Amino acid sequence: MARPIEYRWRAAVTDAEMVALVQAHGGRAVAGWWDQVRPHSLGWVTARLHDGTLVGFVNVAWDGGDHAFLLDTKVRSDCQRRGIATTIVSRAALHAKAAGCEWLHVDFDEHLASFYFDACGFRSTPAGLIHLPSIASPRGRDGGS
Ligand SMILES: CC(C)(COP(=O)(O)OP(=O)(O)OC[C@H]1O[C@@H](n2cnc3c(N)ncnc32)[C@H](O)[C@@H]1OP(=O)(O)O)[C@@H](O)C(=O)NCCC(=O)NCCS
Repeated sequence: MARPIEYRWRAAVTDAEMVALVQAHGGRAVAGWWDQVRPHSLGWVTARLHDGTLVGFVNVAWDGGDHAFLLDTKVRSDCQRRGIATTIVSRAALHAKAAGCEWLHVDFDEHLASFYFDACGFRSTPAGLIHLPSIASPRGRDGGS
């Protein structure tokens, strides 16, 4: 029988492990990303094999009040479809609740709708998004700050 996955909240995870995890699910890894992001995190959930290998991760950012934001859900390709992401998201939700948050937000590509709605229990809500690098820089007499 497969040994159980160990799930932890705010347990140590190195930048190098994050790079390896992103590469292991076929993503584009950026060294230094986790070191930059971690100080702004309410917390994160890690999933590790019994030998310590990091196989799953999700980050929870927050506004310091009622709102928490789920970001960067990831599971190694060779460990997917075993319920690991569903478990890390549910742990993240419970810890955000325990921290006093009222709402947990997430956004995602269409093909993951069944994961977030059906498996994780999010409900659909109107939301908006701006890709900030696409905004035209101000010009003319109103330019500047
Ligand atoms: C999305 C991701 C985190 C899911 O991880 P996982 O551990 O395989 O998910 P689970 O096993 O908990 O999936 C539970 C259910 O969600 C749905 N689901 C999971 N992955 C899915 C996918 N890629 N596409 C569509 N539905 C999916 C399925 O209904 C699944 O149940 P099933 O296996 O019985 O069919 C993983 O595929 C991943 O890391 N992808 C690359 C990174 C990424 O896109 N992250 C999302 C950022 S918003």
